[in-house]
Amino acid sequence: MTHPPTVTASAPAKLMLYGEHAVVYGAPCIVTAADLRVRASVTLRDDDRVIIRAPLLPEPFAARADDILRGADAPPGARFVVAALRACWRTATPCGLELRTQADFSHSYGLGSSSAVTVATVKALSAATGRVLDARQLFRLSYDAVLEAQEGIGSGYDVAAAVFGGTLYYVTPGDVIEPLPLGELPLVIGYSGVKASTTEWVQRAAGLRERHPALVQHIWRLMQELVDEARAALARRDWPACGRLMDINHGLLSAIGVSTARLDALIHAARAAGAHGAKLSGAGGGDCMIALADEGRHAAVAAALDGSGLPGACVVAVRTGAEGARIEA
Ligand code: PMV
Repeated sequence: MTHPPTVTASAPAKLMLYGEHAVVYGAPCIVTAADLRVRASVTLRDDDRVIIRAPLLPEPFAARADDILRGADAPPGARFVVAALRACWRTATPCGLELRTQADFSHSYGLGSSSAVTVATVKALSAATGRVLDARQLFRLSYDAVLEAQEGIGSGYDVAAAVFGGTLYYVTPGDVIEPLPLGELPLVIGYSGVKASTTEWVQRAAGLRERHPALVQHIWRLMQELVDEARAALARRDWPACGRLMDINHGLLSAIGVSTARLDALIHAARAAGAHGAKLSGAGGGDCMIALADEGRHAAVAAALDGSGLPGACVVAVRTGAEGARIEA
């Protein structure tokens, strides 16, 4: 008996470099793809059953393809991949399949495993069914799926990083997706030991904006200026300026209330160990911080983060500017 071939696609994690939260309200941000990947493998079946195996699913999730398209409930560990299947099938015929996902990294880090698994699933499914998608179409379908899974919340910057890779200047909802030819950036990454919910922290920032619209609007405007300065400083590889701009970016995020004592402790430790600058990366509340430091200071900065004494905190080894979504051999 011959089995249909399995198609595997992968997509990279991401790190927000500058501009989080403001990007939700139309300001640009700068994001880089990280060389930790999520893989999705699709094998078509000749019946209409969909069987999903994923690290966060205690047991495989099974449903009929048509029921998935009609909105069948999915367990939390399969929410993004089910939304990805649905996004694909709005414009293609549903079909039975087995889908298995795997990640190089813990979803707790907040490095974009949800957007990466969504992109990898759309890419693998389209390749398995012979549908040709260009990068823009892959972005669109994947972003629709992420919006469905996150109750309409999300600028799509993480989806853009997963699709295009490299380092990008991004404006939501994908109006501008501009590659910045920077190569690898001298970053050290620290996990705070706390997993944060993006939707919760985006909603908190939105709450502050409702209560103090004029003030928060000024902060978004400052963030926009900051991102544009950062873009120029990155292009000059002016690391001291890039670091100062990270410090200012972190100050603005503290002002809107999304930093935490743990993130601040790691950020101060990195600065004291000789980083040019440091900031939280993403929605805040936990997840990761990033520090920009000359290569010669990396060991000292990493040692300071590892020695923070915060339970669960650790350095995450990551290289930036990774390749975007691809089909694996
Ligand atoms: O927490 P993360 O890594 O998903 O990043 C969220 C970044 C925000 O700007 C706060 C939200 C968004 O979708 O851009």
